[in-house]
Parts: sequence; C-alpha cells; structure tokens
Amino acid sequence: MNDTLTTLLEHRSIRAFKDTPLKDEEINAIIDAARSGSTSSYLMAYSMIGVTDPEKKRKLASISNQSYIEKNGHFILFLADYHRHMIHANKEEKDILSKNVQSTEYFMIATIDATIAAQNATVAAESLGIGACYIGSIKRDMDLVNDLFDLPEHVVPLFGLALGYPDEKQDIKPKLPKNAVYFENSYASDEQQKSELEKFDETITTYYQSRQTNKRDDRWTTQVIEKLHNQRNDRLTPFVEEKKFNTR
Ligand SMILES: Cc1cc2nc3c(=O)[nH]c(=O)nc-3n(C[C@H](O)[C@H](O)[C@H](O)COP(=O)(O)O)c2cc1C
Repeated sequence: MNDTLTTLLEHRSIRAFKDTPLKDEEINAIIDAARSGSTSSYLMAYSMIGVTDPEKKRKLASISNQSYIEKNGHFILFLADYHRHMIHANKEEKDILSKNVQSTEYFMIATIDATIAAQNATVAAESLGIGACYIGSIKRDMDLVNDLFDLPEHVVPLFGLALGYPDEKQDIKPKLPKNAVYFENSYASDEQQKSELEKFDETITTYYQSRQTNKRDDRWTTQVIEKLHNQRNDRLTPFVEEKKFNTR
C-alpha cells in the first residue's frame, strides 16, 4: 500500500464543508492535477469554471436545494467543450462539426475527458485532506446553468465538484465487490451476477443500519432500481442537441 492507494481506498463524498475558501496554492494544485489527465486524441475537449461569486453559487444551489453547493471552499463546474476547436476550424474554414464534433462518439470523448479531469481533481483534493462531492444535480436545470455562465454552442455543462475543508466525518460507503464488476475473459453469467448482488445487498443493509448518520433500512438493488424507474430529464436531450452535440 502507498499514499496514492490509501487516498483512493479511503474516498467518501463530503457534503458539509467549513466556510473557509481553499488557498490559491491548493486550487492551483487541484487544477494542475485535473489538466494532467489522459485525453482522447490529445483533444482536451473539456473546460472548468471555478465559481466563487456567492450569488452564482446561491443560484446553482437553488436547482437542487443542496446547501453544500453554496457553502464550500471552492466549486468547479466541468464542461464538455469543443468551442475552442470550433473557433480554429472556422478560422481555417474546415467543417469539423458535421464530420465529427456533432457525433455520439465525440460527445463521449468530451464527457470522458471532463470526467478524467474531474476525478484527477478529486483525488488531488483528497490527497491534500480536502473533501469533495460531485454535483450532477445541476442537470435538472441546464438552461439556468447555461445562462448563469454564458455558455456558447459546443459547450455542455456536465457536473460540478464541491470542494472544501470537511465539516463532517463520513463513513466509507461499500462499493460493489470485485467479482461483481471485474470479469475475466468473458461477461459474467446472470446467475453469477444475481448471487453477487444478493451478497452485496446484505452488506449494504448492514452498512445503512450501522453507519453513524442517516441510518435507514435499504438494499442497493431496491434503491437503484427505484432511481432508474423514476428519474427522467426530458429537457436534457434537446438541450444537448441545441448545443450541437450528439445529433448523429
Ligand atoms: C457524476 C456524479 C454526480 C453526482 N451528483 C451528486 C449530487 O448532485 N449530489 C450529491 O450529494 N452527490 C452526488 N454524487 C455523489 C454520489 O452520490 C456518491 O459518489 C455515491 O453515493 C457514492 O458515495 P461515495 O462518493 O461517498 O463513495 C455524484 C457522483 C457522481 C460521480
């Protein structure tokens, strides 16, 4: 075991932060780590917006009523972004839009690039003792996020990352075990998957009943199927298409 592995294995989302801004050198280290990740075809098809304006943070927090979007040490919005590529393509009168940028493949590339950057930022923050929580709930009002940050075409907000000095102790949440997510040489049988999930449900029931805060009676399978059954964001597909992403 080394420090990197310890940081990774001790990950837990933090949702209560001290109201103290992160130091500039901490923010710079986190951004540098984000910028250093792998990127498909060297495209670097992502950007980040650091949000420090209290009014903008308040408006972002109002989308999902999550106080930690407003009260934290720093907030970064992650974007899938081909705007800079489009500027240069237009200058050189090259059609990169219909050839690639609009395609599902290139939307995937941009979201993967942004996610790698964000996860590097998260691990860097946690290695410095700074807590982090991804914020996907901004997707509930993409138009508000779009207007708040004047996002041009070919830029889609994906998620935020709330960062700060932790003001809570959180248990580590159990994750699916190795046999449930790592298969060798071919995809696992349904039988194997069912048996792994039954065991994991038992682990999760025990976890929810024994954790320090917000104890409850729940199973992983019930929880996620309920979520997948209920959640629907009708505005997301047209929003992404209006930004000229994922249209073919
Ligand atoms: C893309 C993404 C979006 C997320 N959005 C939210 C969010 O809006 N609010 C929140 O409280 N947690 C959010 N989370 C955190 C997850 O709930 C959390 O990672 C998961 O429950 C596992 O817990 P852990 O991070 O403590 O291991 C998000 C995580 C990811 C990866």
